Amino acid sequence: MENYEKLGVFYLGRTYDLAAKKSKEELLLYDSKDLVTHGVCVGMTGSGKTGLCISLLEEAAIDNIPAIIIDPKGDMPNLLLTFPQLQTQDFLPWVNEDDARKKGISSEDFAKQQSELWKNGLASWGQSGDRIAQLRQAVDFVVYTPGSNSGVPVSILKSFSAPPVAIMDDNELLSDRIVSTVTSLLGLLGKEADPIRSREHILLSTILDASWKQGRDLDLAALIQQIQTPPVNKVGVLDLESFYPSKDRFDLALLLNNLLAAPGFNSWLEGEPLDIGQILYTPQGKPRMAIFSIAHLNDVERMFFVSLLLNQILAWTRTQSGTNSLRALVYMDEIFGYFPPVANPPSKAPLLTLLKQARAFGVGILLATQNPVDLDYKGLSNTGTWFIGRLQTERDKMRVLEGLEGVAATTGTKFDRQSMEQTLAGLGSRIFLMNNVHDDAPVIFQTRWAMSYLRGPLTRTQIKTLMDPIRATVTTAQPATAQAAAQPAYAAPSPVQKSGATTGAAKPVLPPSVTQYFVPVRGSQVAGKKLVYNPMLLGTAQVHFMDKKSGEDMIVEPVMVTPIIDEPIPVNWDNATEISFNISDLEKSTNEQAGYNSLPPAAGNAKSYGDWEKEFTNWLYRNQKVELLKSLSLKQVSRPGESERDFRVRIQQGSREQRDDALDKLKQKYATKMASLEEKVRRAEQAVDREAEQAKQQKMQTAISVGTTLLGAFVGRKAVSLSSLGKATTAARGASRIMKESQDIARAKETLETHQQRLQELENEFKAEIEELQGKIDPMTEELETVTLRPAKKDIYVRLVALTWMPQWQGPDGSLTPAWA
Ligand SMILES: Nc1ncnc2c1ncn2[C@@H]1O[C@H](COP(=O)(O)OP(=O)(O)O)[C@@H](O)[C@H]1O
Ligand SMILES: [Mg+2]
Repeated sequence: MENYEKLGVFYLGRTYDLAAKKSKEELLLYDSKDLVTHGVCVGMTGSGKTGLCISLLEEAAIDNIPAIIIDPKGDMPNLLLTFPQLQTQDFLPWVNEDDARKKGISSEDFAKQQSELWKNGLASWGQSGDRIAQLRQAVDFVVYTPGSNSGVPVSILKSFSAPPVAIMDDNELLSDRIVSTVTSLLGLLGKEADPIRSREHILLSTILDASWKQGRDLDLAALIQQIQTPPVNKVGVLDLESFYPSKDRFDLALLLNNLLAAPGFNSWLEGEPLDIGQILYTPQGKPRMAIFSIAHLNDVERMFFVSLLLNQILAWTRTQSGTNSLRALVYMDEIFGYFPPVANPPSKAPLLTLLKQARAFGVGILLATQNPVDLDYKGLSNTGTWFIGRLQTERDKMRVLEGLEGVAATTGTKFDRQSMEQTLAGLGSRIFLMNNVHDDAPVIFQTRWAMSYLRGPLTRTQIKTLMDPIRATVTTAQPATAQAAAQPAYAAPSPVQKSGATTGAAKPVLPPSVTQYFVPVRGSQVAGKKLVYNPMLLGTAQVHFMDKKSGEDMIVEPVMVTPIIDEPIPVNWDNATEISFNISDLEKSTNEQAGYNSLPPAAGNAKSYGDWEKEFTNWLYRNQKVELLKSLSLKQVSRPGESERDFRVRIQQGSREQRDDALDKLKQKYATKMASLEEKVRRAEQAVDREAEQAKQQKMQTAISVGTTLLGAFVGRKAVSLSSLGKATTAARGASRIMKESQDIARAKETLETHQQRLQELENEFKAEIEELQGKIDPMTEELETVTLRPAKKDIYVRLVALTWMPQWQGPDGSLTPAWA
């Protein structure tokens, strides 16, 4: 097979000659970057949409691009049926027994037939078991089953948490998010609620809005509680009680509670959280194809889940950095009902926003449907690639033509409606017309054989069998960032209590030369616990790290607290813990009613603080270091606090961006060279044509197209294409009939051969250049080196070392919890 793997292209099939009804030599290589402007795949049942989209996902997988795959029908777990050996016993557990019975043969014989079918099918498309092995190696496949334990269960608990800043800061996005979340939740409760008229909708929206703006996450239990005691006392200008009396609110709370209490509902709450960043990559940083199978859910549950998922995808997308390369794919097989032109189900807003905004972040959306009439028009005009298969009804054809015409109008290209109509009518199964706004003209192609065994929908039991061996490996591991490690370490009892100091005493009196600060109390009083201030020494500094060799240069600002104890050495910075706290929040005094732990005498002496500051500098000098990871092949270095997993994920995308840039240059370089050579070949051919009879000429043409297969497919349909070349020669052929002397023929042929040879050389040169392209980063084996940075003493600038009172809750049993986090 040709070496197209390094080209950042998806091998989808071969171009197809509709008139001759057979596929041509030229490969259909789809530029993966083009999918950043999204795609839609339409065609009647059986036209080969799922086969095409599965092949496209296989190509993405080989390129280490992760995907979220929403599967309402059940076909998508076929992506897990990949058998590098292509043996009968591989197929046997998965063949459709009904099909075997219908054929009147045993399952074994049928499995044998199927394995032969797949082996031969793949071979005829230049693929082998090796490529299947490569596919399996590149990504992990997981089937998630919300509301069920057959695959990997999903927890929706976190879906009501406050969205990321990128959403919170954008009023339109925030309001969309609230409306969509509330509508889908009310849908689950069997209430079709209008966001503007329905009281329930307005109340729930107000609660989400108020809680999120206060930085509070909600879950369903908290939501029930908040319905009864909302965080607001006015809705609009109306008093809460007159807008929605508490008795009625209780009914709504009850309804939601019944949902929570319903048998089986806990399967929605126990499982992997819908955290897109964690789902798209394994804890080791390997990309995932995450299939969300929703075939087993009822309509309301499906809509609820799809809306939540799309909202999470949108929120995640908005936290990514900008890119021109494909970062991740979102595929939905059969979009029917989720993206209608007129109605407004809760899935529509997030999908529409994704289509408008995701491109800037490299997230490509691919939607498949059998009825184009069911697709929202605005959404359609936002998709750059259309795969159009055989259509069933005239209405569908008209809709697609309208859409294509719209696309042509926006891109300013010619549109020949009549010939397009004719083309569409001629499409057969697995024959698609691709209209890509990045190409000059549409192209007809036949889809390649899928590597996955397309056995059709899998049952829940089959999904269970598939996932049983993998389920345990899918659990989300918390990334080990410095920040996560720094979180609540302070909760451990401090030596002050251990030494039996009196607690709950009055605030100690200090000389004015000793500066003291208070950490403000956060959160509300816990019943039965009292507030006690504990004296700690807080130190913070700017530490500048510089490494000439790697060019790394960064400043970190640790905030450390350490106990002050009544012993010969009252302060030991080795006992300090790092806290995540903004020192500008420190207060000079407090109004809290609280007790105070006793203060060792050293803390009342202003001179001590100068010593402790010196010790702090020394301690920082000895202990502060930053460990960074460095990718050897990419020369990229991790950020402070970035986990190895996140770094591996980031460099994968970085390497893809580098490769795509290199390929862009390569493409430009060869496109011009090839166009001019092709033009020369064309003229030379005309010359030969004028000289010789027609039969010979046919042979010449075949020679060119074979010779430039890969280069031609790579450069794409932008340069002088081989098909227009064919037209030109045909026209010339008809024009001349005169036989010339054989000498003239020989000379013309010679010129032609020279040019053809150059074209062949260009192809070889191109292939050699591909060989030299850097291979993509293998996320799992990319070698990382640890770089340790330490500060020079002069690069430590202490900003504050001071007595700081830290509030804590003390239970009757003496237990302590921080009252400031
Ligand atoms: N790329 C392909 N490779 C092998 N078989 C295919 C391919 N595409 C379609 N088929 C065959 O055609 C059948 C119908 O295609 P499918 O993609 O499921 O149609 P659709 O999704 O449009 O209803 C599949 O079950 C499979 O047997
Ligand atoms: Mg299908």
